[in-house]
Amino acid sequence: MRNPLPDRREISRRDFLTAAAVTATGVVVGSSAIEEARGGTARRRFAQVGVGGRSILYRKAVLSSHAEHCEMVGFCDLNPGRLKLAQAHARSFAGLEVPIYASSDFDRLIQETKPDAVIVTTKDAAHSDYIVRAMELGCDVVTEKPMTTDETKCRAIFDAQRRTGKRCRVTFNYRYSPPRTQVKDLLMSGIIGDVLSVDFHWHLDTFHGSDYFRRWHSNKVNSGGLMVHKATHHFDLVNWWLSAVPVSVMATGKRHFYTPAMAKRIGLESHHDRCLTCPEKARCGFYLDIATHPEYREVYLAQEHYDGYFRDRCVFRPDIDIEDTMNVQVGYNTGVTMAYSLNAFSAWEGYQICFNGTKGRLEHKMEELVYVNPREGRSVPDRKEGATTIRICPIRAAAYEVPVWKGDGEHAGGDRVMLDDIFLPQRPTDKYLRAADHRAGAFSLLVGVAANRSFTTGETVKISDLVREIPPPDYPPMPSHVEPIPMPARA
Ligand SMILES: NC(=O)c1ccc[n+]([C@@H]2O[C@H](COP(=O)([O-])OP(=O)(O)OC[C@H]3O[C@@H](n4cnc5c(N)ncnc54)[C@H](O)[C@@H]3O)[C@@H](O)[C@H]2O)c1
Repeated sequence: MRNPLPDRREISRRDFLTAAAVTATGVVVGSSAIEEARGGTARRRFAQVGVGGRSILYRKAVLSSHAEHCEMVGFCDLNPGRLKLAQAHARSFAGLEVPIYASSDFDRLIQETKPDAVIVTTKDAAHSDYIVRAMELGCDVVTEKPMTTDETKCRAIFDAQRRTGKRCRVTFNYRYSPPRTQVKDLLMSGIIGDVLSVDFHWHLDTFHGSDYFRRWHSNKVNSGGLMVHKATHHFDLVNWWLSAVPVSVMATGKRHFYTPAMAKRIGLESHHDRCLTCPEKARCGFYLDIATHPEYREVYLAQEHYDGYFRDRCVFRPDIDIEDTMNVQVGYNTGVTMAYSLNAFSAWEGYQICFNGTKGRLEHKMEELVYVNPREGRSVPDRKEGATTIRICPIRAAAYEVPVWKGDGEHAGGDRVMLDDIFLPQRPTDKYLRAADHRAGAFSLLVGVAANRSFTTGETVKISDLVREIPPPDYPPMPSHVEPIPMPARA
C-alpha cells in the first residue's frame, strides 16, 4: 500500500480520470468541537455525497493536500458508475479503499463509517435531504452552494439545526478570492464612508452561460434557476460585503435567448435533443463534444446508462424553464438598496460592481475566462490578466486605481484559500469572517427564491415571509451609518 499521506497538492482532474481508467472500472464545520471530542489528535473523518464534477475539489483536499488532518471514510451517490470513479480516485491517490454507498443507503453509510462531517456536493435540490439527515444522524455538514433551492427546504434545514445543534457550513468560495476579500477590506476601512447603494451586474458569456442550459440546472425543480443556483454566490457576496441582510426583493426575469426560436434565428433548422446525436452539430456554435473530451466522457457519458443524466442536452430545448435575463432590486436592513442584473448570453464573462458611499464610490470590475468549454485537461487561468480593477472615486477629489490583491488557482484563487479554511485544524483568526454557515446560506438563496416569486407575481417579496426569524450571520463591523461626514469644499 502506498503512503497515504504524501504531499499531493497538484493532483489534476485528468489524473483522477487516468487513475479511474487504470482500475477499470468546522470551522471546518465544528472542527474545533470535533477535535476537542477526539482529544485534539485524530484526523477528521469525512464522507462525501454527490461525486460529480465539483466533488473532486473537496475529494482532492481530503485525500491529498489536507490528508494530514482529514480522512475520507465513504462516498455516496445515486450513480454507481461515478461512485466507482470516486473510489478509483481514492485508491490511486491515497492507497485507500474508500467504501461506496448507494444514495438509498445513506443512513448505513453514516452508521458504518461514522464520519464527523458530511460533504454535500449533489445537485442543488438534493442538498437539503442530506444536510437534514446528516445532522439528525449526528454529523456536521459542509455543503456546496446554494444551501438549498426553496424556502420549504430552507426551513427544514433550520429546524434540523435547532433540533440537533449540529453545524452546517456553506462553502461560499467567492468570498475567498483575493480581490473580493480586498473589496471587503476597503469597505471595512471606511474609505468610501458608509455604503448607501450598490449597482451590480454579472455577465455569463455564451460558453459559460449556455452550460447552465444543458443539464439539471436548466429546470428550476433541480436548481432554483440561475437566481438561486448562480446568483446565490453574488447575493452572498453583497450581504457579506455590506455586513447586511436582505429584507425585500422585486424582480423581472425572462428566457429570451436559449429558446427554440433562437435556434432558428442563429441558422439552425430546429432545436434538438442533445449534442451527441445532433444532426446539425457541425454548424451549431453551442455544440459540446462529450465523446472525445476525457473528463466529460468518463464522468458523464460513460455513466449515463445508469441514470439517463445527459451532460450535453440542447440549449434551445423547449422544456427549459429557467431565465437567461434577470433584473433585481434588493432592499437591505441597513437601508442600502441594490440594482442587480444577471445575463447568461453576454459578450464577456465577469462582473462590475459599484458601491456608492457617503465619502465616495468604489468601482470594481473582474473579467474572467472561466469554464472554457472544453478545458481539454489544461490548467486554464480563470481571469484575464490585468482585467481586474478596483478604483476609488472620493467625493470632490481625483479618482485613483488601487493595486489588486492576487491569488492563483480556480475561482480567482478563492478555492485554495477556502480549502485551508475548511480543512486545517488550526486556522488564523479571520478578520473578514469568511466562513459562512446556514444563516448566510439562507440569506443568499432566499433573495433568489424571492426573485423567482416576484418574476411570476410582479410583487415585492419580503424575505421574512419566506423564512421567519433567521438570526443574523456573523459579519465584521462596518463604518458607522450615523457619524458626521466632513464634506470637502467645492473645487
Ligand atoms: N462553488 C462553486 O463554484 C461551484 C462550482 C460548481 C458546482 N457547484 C455546486 O456543486 C454541486 C455539484 O455540482 P456538479 O457540477 O458537481 O454537478 P454534477 O452533475 O457533476 O454532479 C452531481 C452529482 O450528484 C449526484 N446526485 C444527484 N442527485 C443525487 C441524489 N439525490 N442523491 C445522491 N447523489 C445525487 C449525481 O449523480 C452526480 O454525481 C452543486 O450543488 C453545484 O451548485 C459549486
